[in-house]
Amino acid sequence: MKNSSPVGFLDSGIGGITVLKKSVKLLPNENYFFFSDSLNNPYGDKTDKEIINRCSEITRYMISDKKCKAVVIACNTASAKAVRSLRAEFKNIPIIAIEPAYKVVHDKNPQGKTLIMATKGTISSEKFRRLYYSYYNHNTVIHSCVGLADLIEQDRKSEIISYLNSNFARYKNQIENVVLGCTHYPLIKEEIRQTLGNVQFFDGAEGVSKRLKYILEKDNMLNPQTNNGEIEFFDSSADEKTKELKKERFYQILNKD
Ligand code: DGL
Repeated sequence: MKNSSPVGFLDSGIGGITVLKKSVKLLPNENYFFFSDSLNNPYGDKTDKEIINRCSEITRYMISDKKCKAVVIACNTASAKAVRSLRAEFKNIPIIAIEPAYKVVHDKNPQGKTLIMATKGTISSEKFRRLYYSYYNHNTVIHSCVGLADLIEQDRKSEIISYLNSNFARYKNQIENVVLGCTHYPLIKEEIRQTLGNVQFFDGAEGVSKRLKYILEKDNMLNPQTNNGEIEFFDSSADEKTKELKKERFYQILNKD
């Protein structure tokens, strides 16, 4: 593994780009490889075993073929289900995981009424249960957003708005903090604000990116180049047209402020 090797990012689709963008801001000179597993999207309703097996295959590919020097699991669901087994299987490289930013709410606005949005898989996980009870503020609603990540992945705008309205309109102007516990959700902040009113958002992207920087510094693995790194995107879809569309959307989001 060389210092110029890429940092691998994985997600069930393009959602993980919300994490990648933060990392690129913090570590612009790194090279990145992003794996969007849209062939198996969504992860939210899959069994633990399915997610563990799939993440293991992707990580193996990123290490052996793409020579990644670190892997970021830019997916809350995969992090909750697979990080332990990935770390046990791939001991030689750092594997960095994300979790819903409920601790940040605890640090910044613990009294505020809080809504946690995440996939069914994340919410039913042991990892989430521990996080939730460590920082429980007696003023929190948890919502398992079945199907929402899928709508975002497919960019189905009007269905996203109907979904938000039918699930969250009853909380309008009552929520202060929203934990975006799925890496797809920061892509629809504006739509969530339209439904809920002026809320404050919390997601794990910043924390993960800081952790990545800390680990690369500690292990002397930072890329010494001074120009901006390369960002390569790969989508697993079997259909060429879908692959192309995902790629286009990925670079569009990446280059948007
Ligand atoms: N982006 C993912 C997450 O953070 C998962 C979305 C899905 O595939 O269900 O949980």
